[in-house]
This record gives sequence, structure tokens and C-alpha cells, in this order.
Amino acid sequence: MITILAIESSCDDTSAAVVRDAGDGRGALLLSNVTASQKVHEEFGGVVPELASRAHQLNIVPVVDTALKRAGVDKSELSAIAFTRGPGLLGSLLVGTSFAKGMSLALGIPLVEVNHLQGHVMAHFVSTGTERHPDFPFLCLLVSGGNSQIIKVERADEASSEPKHMPRMSIIGQTIDDAAGEAFDKCAKVLGLPYPGGPWVDKLAQEGNPKAFALAKPNIPGYDYSFSGLKTSFLYLLRDALKQDADFIEKNKADLCASLQRTVIEILLSKLKRAVQDTGIRRVAVAGGVSANSGLRNALLDSGKRYGWDVFIPPFAYTTDNAAMIAQAGYFKYLDGELCSIDAVPFAKTIV
Ligand code: KG4
Repeated sequence: MITILAIESSCDDTSAAVVRDAGDGRGALLLSNVTASQKVHEEFGGVVPELASRAHQLNIVPVVDTALKRAGVDKSELSAIAFTRGPGLLGSLLVGTSFAKGMSLALGIPLVEVNHLQGHVMAHFVSTGTERHPDFPFLCLLVSGGNSQIIKVERADEASSEPKHMPRMSIIGQTIDDAAGEAFDKCAKVLGLPYPGGPWVDKLAQEGNPKAFALAKPNIPGYDYSFSGLKTSFLYLLRDALKQDADFIEKNKADLCASLQRTVIEILLSKLKRAVQDTGIRRVAVAGGVSANSGLRNALLDSGKRYGWDVFIPPFAYTTDNAAMIAQAGYFKYLDGELCSIDAVPFAKTIV
């Protein structure tokens, strides 16, 4: 029996999860997934790193404790501790990393480090026993507050005789400036919406006309993304319109949100479509916080029907930052014998 406790603290969510492989051939099943979100950032319109680290320090003991209790697992039954090593906010990562190291030393069990972005992709393998998981190879659109990437995910042992559980991931396209989530959040901020703005834009967009306003779309080669031009064109649209009518935002909020959301989705899907055409890989998954967006989910399902893609959308609980995805990645790495040293330090930036 393998039991893994995972800790995620890369940004402003403190999360702990427990998975267990009971050796019955069903792989690791999720026993608990507990997340404490930090409200302290709302009044600042964005995450304040120092406040995030302090909130993680307050949250980590009760969150881990609750995850173990909900799983019905005692510390002495754990096989390993998985933790998010990066990328993310260094102060936040340091809390989870130090806590994981402390537990590993105290219990005399190994540590497994997990890359946060690989964790998001692994959300597709979190299992409570009923989910459908993508077969390999597949393309994963990873869209979060800090990243927008198209990742090719393949069976790791295709080229070797070694059996491997953790899949191989390669980035074939990524943003050259801002992330999709950042575009949602920054545009929402200028509309006076609370942080994080993505879910608010999503909600308001449902009552608006997505064709009301034309916004700039980038024209860059390959499968790369850019969202800074869209952000600027949104800002200029508001600046010019507010000169004519001081109530422009209030009168047009839903239409502005719907137009912004449509443009972000069109940008995301145009490159994804091209990647599917060129690679011939028709299994398409989406991951990261922005994959909670209802417009994006519908657009992917529509593309699935129209172009014959097999589309995988994770349950809401595994879209934003959570430890369940880290536990799943940690379990695969543990099976592969990929343990990490007690000297491992967090890192702020990396690629998958
Ligand atoms: O993956 P995540 O929780 O954190 C990281 O960046 O790692 O993603 C957070 C992002 C934020 O930008 C948030 O506004 C966006 O996901 N988001 C959404 C929605 N829910 C969360 N964006 C658009 N529509 C949503 N429903």
C-alpha cells in the first residue's frame, strides 16, 4: 500500500491532499483534498507576496491536519511527502517546502518534489474511481494566472525499456508576455471588479453580447501566445469611450466582459487548432485556473464536436491550485523512484 501526502503552496492557496494505492490495481485514489484560500489579497487587487507567505504559515498546520483526518490516515501510515517546489512565489513555496521537509525528517520518509505546471496537467489523472483519463499522447492547454502554454504529453517510457509512470511533457507553445488569466484579471481590475477578476468576467459575460466590441488579436508565429496587445486595446477602448460618457463602464459592463472573454477564447483556440492539425493529436485537454471559464469549456466542447477532438475538461475542484494534482504527480514520481534531496530549494520560474 502506498500513501502520499501532498502540499501545495505556490501562490495564494494552501492545500493538502492524500492519495492511496491500496494495491488493488486501481492506482492511487484521492482520499482528501483540502484548500484554504486567502481572502487577504482582495482589497489590494492582486496577490501580495509577503501577506501570502504569512497566511500560508497560519493555514498549513490546520490544512494538513484536516486532510489527514478526512482521509482517515495517520501520519505513521504515510509512504512519502510530495510538495510543490516551483514555479511560484518564493516566500509561499518556502512555507510548503519547509513544512514538507520537516515532516519528512520527523517521520523518516522520502520527499518527492513536483513542478506546479506538471501538477496542473496531472489534474487529469486525479481519481476517485469514476473519472475518464486521457490516453497518450494528448495536447494540454495550460491556462492559469501565470501561464498560457500548449503542452504535448506523451508516455514517458515510449523510447526506453524502463517502465515509467510520470508522463513526458514538452511545451510546444507559450505566451511571450502575459498569461490569459492575467489578461482577465487586469482587464477586470480596470472595470472595477474584485480580484481575481476571471470568475467575475465569466459571470457577467453570460449576460453580455460577445460581439459588442472589437479587441486586438495578436499575430505571432507558431503556437505561441500574446495577451499584452489585447490588454492595451481594452484599456484604450475604455479611455476613449470614458471621454464621451463617464458612465460607459457601468452601462456596458456585461458587453465588455463578453467581448473580452470571446477574444481570449478565440486567441487560445486558434493556436490550439493549429497544434492539433500539425501534430495530428486529436486528444485535447485543458488545465489551470482559466479552465474554469464556462465560455472556454463550451468552446472546447464545440470544437470537439466540430473537429472530432476527444476533449478532457477537469472537474472544477482540480482547475485552480490544489494539492490533489500534486499528490497524483507525486505518486507517479514515487513509483518511478524519483525522490528528492532534503537540500532541495524552491524555484520561482521554470518550464515544464
Ligand atoms: O491556476 P490558478 O488557480 O493559479 C495560478 O495562476 O497558478 O489560476 C488563477 C487564474 C486567475 O487569473 C483567475 O482569474 C483565473 O484563473 N480564473 C478564471 C476563472 N476562474 C479562475 N478566469 C476566467 N474564468 C473563470 N471562471
